[in-house]
Amino acid sequence: MSKKGIRGNLTNYGDAEFAGFLRRSFARSMGLSTEMLEKPIIGIVMTPSGFNSCHRGMPELVDAVSRGVLAAGALPRAFPTISLGEVFLKPTSMVYRNLMAMDTEEMLSAQPMDAVVLIGGCDKTVPAQLMGAASANIPAIQLVTGPMSTGRHKGERLAACTDCRRFWGKYRADEIDAHEIADIEGKLSTTSGTCGVMGTASTMACIAETLGMSLPDTAAIPSVHSARLVAAVKTGEAIVRMLDKPIKPGEIITEKSVENAFRVLMAISGSTNAIVHLTAIAGRLGIRISDERLNQISDETPVLVNLKPVGEGYMEDFHAAGGVRAVLQEIKHLLHLDTINVVGQTLGEILSEPLDFVDRTYVRELKDPISPVGGLISVSGNIAPDGAIFKRAAATPDLFEVTGRAVVFEGLEDLANRIDAPDLDVKADDVLVLKNAGPVAAGMPEAGYLPIPKKLARRGVKDMLRISDARMSGTAFGTIVLHMSPETGVGGPLAAVQNGDLIRFSVKEKSITLLVDDQTIEKRMAQWKPAAKPKRGYQSLYARTVMQAPDGCDFDFLTSDPEINNNSTG
Ligand code: FES
Repeated sequence: MSKKGIRGNLTNYGDAEFAGFLRRSFARSMGLSTEMLEKPIIGIVMTPSGFNSCHRGMPELVDAVSRGVLAAGALPRAFPTISLGEVFLKPTSMVYRNLMAMDTEEMLSAQPMDAVVLIGGCDKTVPAQLMGAASANIPAIQLVTGPMSTGRHKGERLAACTDCRRFWGKYRADEIDAHEIADIEGKLSTTSGTCGVMGTASTMACIAETLGMSLPDTAAIPSVHSARLVAAVKTGEAIVRMLDKPIKPGEIITEKSVENAFRVLMAISGSTNAIVHLTAIAGRLGIRISDERLNQISDETPVLVNLKPVGEGYMEDFHAAGGVRAVLQEIKHLLHLDTINVVGQTLGEILSEPLDFVDRTYVRELKDPISPVGGLISVSGNIAPDGAIFKRAAATPDLFEVTGRAVVFEGLEDLANRIDAPDLDVKADDVLVLKNAGPVAAGMPEAGYLPIPKKLARRGVKDMLRISDARMSGTAFGTIVLHMSPETGVGGPLAAVQNGDLIRFSVKEKSITLLVDDQTIEKRMAQWKPAAKPKRGYQSLYARTVMQAPDGCDFDFLTSDPEINNNSTG
């Protein structure tokens, strides 16, 4: 790759010389000397926002990356894209992940840069940046903002957001009062950084490192730790060094590295959302991992990481325990070791040196796993013919082989209106069913963690089988079947479920089945009518082109999955 610097992607005036002259002239107004404008340019995607607490440390990271770039002899140019703060977006940040991916891809493709550092952190930002970089296919390194550190409440450590849900559950069950929950509100998220457990953000950081898109040992460094600033400087230096032998995302994100990432997802018992995001990232490069392969990987890969929401620790513990490298070492025999990372090292080379210390409280040895099988599986059946996802590691084993009566909520509003109604006809062994919460119907919010109806929660019921076409937060837990596909909003057969029907769930058989005969299901589906779609703007584009969860919820015109379209990447 030639280093074009400021001469790259010239504005089209029909006179390239003039375009270069004009650009240099405007660049000079930013205090850049002629000598500086002769250097290669490293773009730095920055995503700070007054609506994104997880990116509070962004300015320091941009400075640190810039220092590394300058020290290595190139010109850093930071620029913004949209930023997605998980809890600040309606109806859900998921709707905007593809918008951020498009913003990232287009700005990487249109502006003059020889390579780019992508800085993200909060749930949807890292997948959006990796999707955009994969499609733009210019040399890129992902740097994450890092997880938050824990706070304290009555001597107990806590961090967003497993503890948010745990304490909210206690409050709903009248175990703590309004005064205490208000006190806890100020203690859950006390430093900069992403959620402090193995939620979606942390999972995606581990996946980015496993794919080879981040520097080794950087995923888990706490946001406020000096090592994060050092990692940022090193990222800046590495991206400049890489210019002599550039490696593009399409060479790093391969079928083998995607399989490695799925392995790590299982071993860390990561977020269910990561399956959708990794599928979308891989889809940008025409790579698809089947449900059968996913289940095979899950059944072969033990859960080794003892962090919330599945276990006990926090991301700060994971970092101190050895981080992603400690996990990779333990499952080395299951990995493709010839994949390469952003600086051209093979995974085998990275793992050739053993770590001097691993804290086995948080990263178990292979012979002493938390669970002998992976955290997530795909299930299917007559109400999810294209599959659904179940996080077995965060569920109640007593609910793994059950048949229960359906208690149906027709949508999010119906759920909000009736879940706590004193006259709701519900028992602890029923199955809570939420419809119309999939990508097209509702943007696929994290509503799959249906609350336990108050009247049952007060009687001490902690978990129930819950099924939906929604997602759930990576920080949540419970016996919850998600991403039922196709969704009700496009006429998926989940729409046929009625109150009182029996539903059978079997982890052993990896199945979810409505025990109603096919004819009755067909008759009910004949009554189904699609809802009207938004007519203007981005919402219209989204509703017309978003694909289902097994396709990563990407837009159909952006994926390079050969089964869907023939787009080629840059
Ligand atoms: Fe940003 Fe959890 S809200 S990572």
